[in-house]
Amino acid sequence: DKGNHRHFMAKEIYEQPEVIAHTFSHYLDLSAETVALPDLPFDLAEIQHISITACGTALYAGAVAEYWLERFARVPVSTDIASEFRYRETPLTPGGLTIVISQSGETADTLASLRYAKECGQKVLAVVNVPTSTIAREADAVLPILAGPEIGVASTKAFTCQLATLACLSVAIGRAKGLLSQEDEHRLVRAFMEVPRLMTEALKLSPEIEVLSRTLAKARDVLYLGRGTNFPLALEGALKLKEISYIHAEGYAGGELKHGPIALIDETMPVVVIAPHDRIFDKTVSNMEEVAARGGKIILVTDPKGAAQAHVDAVQKLILPEMPATVCPMVYSIPVQLIAYHTAVIMGTDVDQPRNLAKSVTVE
Ligand code: M6R
Repeated sequence: DKGNHRHFMAKEIYEQPEVIAHTFSHYLDLSAETVALPDLPFDLAEIQHISITACGTALYAGAVAEYWLERFARVPVSTDIASEFRYRETPLTPGGLTIVISQSGETADTLASLRYAKECGQKVLAVVNVPTSTIAREADAVLPILAGPEIGVASTKAFTCQLATLACLSVAIGRAKGLLSQEDEHRLVRAFMEVPRLMTEALKLSPEIEVLSRTLAKARDVLYLGRGTNFPLALEGALKLKEISYIHAEGYAGGELKHGPIALIDETMPVVVIAPHDRIFDKTVSNMEEVAARGGKIILVTDPKGAAQAHVDAVQKLILPEMPATVCPMVYSIPVQLIAYHTAVIMGTDVDQPRNLAKSVTVE
């Protein structure tokens, strides 16, 4: 049932404030302002290194979590495409945790990676949406993301609920290792509790996004840029746009612009910059100046401080409220998804069932 939405994808975008609140309430003790994971069959304090493996959107959720795990738990993390991980014969030494992420829990390459990690003596933790899935059954432990059924082939609410679950896990490992003070944990948990409200604010940008999607719908190629945790979000934005609008898009880390993709910039190439204000925002401003100097059109997704500092020509701004950096990838997902959605609707594609794609890829 799509409710009063035209597509399942729209329904699933709009239900995110509610479903992510549910996911957080499962992994947080709201009154104590602490993270409260279920008991796991291994000791989080003992984890020496982490490998994350997944495909598509789930992989990008993992790539965001890599930043959090390294920051909060100071544990080395490598994030891998499941189809590469399984065949590369990565040496996995004792003391390692492998995190597999999958909405369906049936993705063939992710399942094969899980089996490879187990053979190598790793503890395997599955972050899945379908709790009865093969991946959930074969893992040593499961953290369900509790997003509810996701019908649209383009993943939306599963991505943000994967992020919510992985954010809680990152804090839990940091605490178990004695690296996060109680005050840090309370502060992070309070920030997590604000996410549903911030997402509701972000959804209000929809009419504005619909207007600027008309420019995107005319483009042949679109570039997405982000730094830090917004880099994987740039990759996710580009994937979403390709999947449902069939417009070619690529995501890059802002710092890589000069190392190649800048050659593509001209007046026909829109650039979506995902950049809340942060300590390296001036670097993002110089990226935008480089784009503007070549006639490129910029869509900047930022906050009031970022908007005030971005004195660059030809920038259309989507302004979100100010928020702690840790929650940005969850909240900024909303405009990123809406950009792809509105562009696809303008293009007249089959948004929920895009050509050539399956919801779950159970063959290699
Ligand atoms: O079910 P999974 O999370 O394992 O699926 C992984 C990818 O196939 C999936 O995320 C795909 O990239 C989506 N169509 C993205 O929108």
